[in-house]
Amino acid sequence: MFRVAVLTVSDKGARGEREDLSGQAVKELVADQGWQVDEIRIVSDDLAAITGTLLDFVTAGVDLVLTTGGTGLGPRDNTPEATLAVIEREVPGLAEAMRWETFKITPRAILSRAVAGIRGKTLIVNLPGSPQAVRECLGVILPVLGHALGVLT
Ligand code: MTE
Repeated sequence: MFRVAVLTVSDKGARGEREDLSGQAVKELVADQGWQVDEIRIVSDDLAAITGTLLDFVTAGVDLVLTTGGTGLGPRDNTPEATLAVIEREVPGLAEAMRWETFKITPRAILSRAVAGIRGKTLIVNLPGSPQAVRECLGVILPVLGHALGVLT
């Protein structure tokens, strides 16, 4: 069983002004795989807060970190930059496939700057911020994630 951490990146969520439906959606889909969700954490869009939390999860030894939110074009959207600061090797195909496949559902899919990559034995994947986007994008990569995590461990 793989250990998973979920990171919701949202200024409003961190202030308690928005219910974290996206983090819950990630948790449900991960649990459907039979994998264990160790933690769901919510942080603001601050670059340092995201980077620090990603490093915490890596240090804790989780197999997979799924982030949701902060991948767009807004001035506070910092999740890809934080992820790139933490990972050692990029896995571009995961983000490419999510954009390509879900572009067929909504052209706005290509507005997500999501990235994916590896730090040590932890795979980190960015997802966009809405619960629907989480379901659409995770649906694309879940069929290969088990194999990817098996290779890493
Ligand atoms: N991808 C999918 N599959 N479905 C969506 O609804 N929303 C898009 C895009 N990716 C979307 C999606 C929109 S509108 C934006 S602005 C970007 O993700 C970035 O969202 P984020 O800043 O919440 O991460």
